[in-house]
Amino acid sequence: MSIWSEHLHNSLGSILLTQDQIEQRISEMARQISQDYASLTDDLVVVGILRGSVLFMSQLIKQLDLPLVIDFLAAASYGSGVTSSGNVRITEDTFIDIHGKHVLVIEDIVDTGITLSKVLQMLQLRGPLSLKLCTLLSKPSRRQIEIPVAYCGFEVPDVFVVGYGLDYADKYRHLPYIGVLKENMYS
Ligand code: IMP
Ligand code: MG
Repeated sequence: MSIWSEHLHNSLGSILLTQDQIEQRISEMARQISQDYASLTDDLVVVGILRGSVLFMSQLIKQLDLPLVIDFLAAASYGSGVTSSGNVRITEDTFIDIHGKHVLVIEDIVDTGITLSKVLQMLQLRGPLSLKLCTLLSKPSRRQIEIPVAYCGFEVPDVFVVGYGLDYADKYRHLPYIGVLKENMYS
């Protein structure tokens, strides 16, 4: 066993979603999104929230049967801990002018909703034609601010998950599945 796989074996409690489950669901979401925006003649602006959305977004957009452009935005609300600081910073802004455009925001997980409510508020001020949110995961039981989620891959229980873009202290993002991080890893 490699040092890394031994580390994974010791730090992950269980696998919540396999790569197959995740990617099947992403294909369904891509079909739905392609249908919903089928009448689009102008480019859809797909905005990924860095860095957690990167794996999800790349898997999703390959299957979108639409004209689109991609952009990114970085928001930080977590230090290296596992609970939201409530203090959201936009650390890198989008490049494309979204005024008069249809915009789809891509996120890894909606937890308290604090990060996304701030991001959506800010993007709404720029006058997009429409603004929708697409997230791979949602933890509804943890919501503090209600935000409209147009597309959600999976609802997950209140456990700390890593992989498929999701991190703990910036690690584990590259895992092709989603696993539950053992509590002794962060408490
Ligand atoms: P919110 O502002 O509480 O909704 O937090 C959203 C951000 O918290 C996400 O973009 C993630 O970076 C992070 N987050 C929330 N829950 C988890 C988790 O279970 N694993 C990894 N990151 C998480
Ligand atoms: Mg994170």
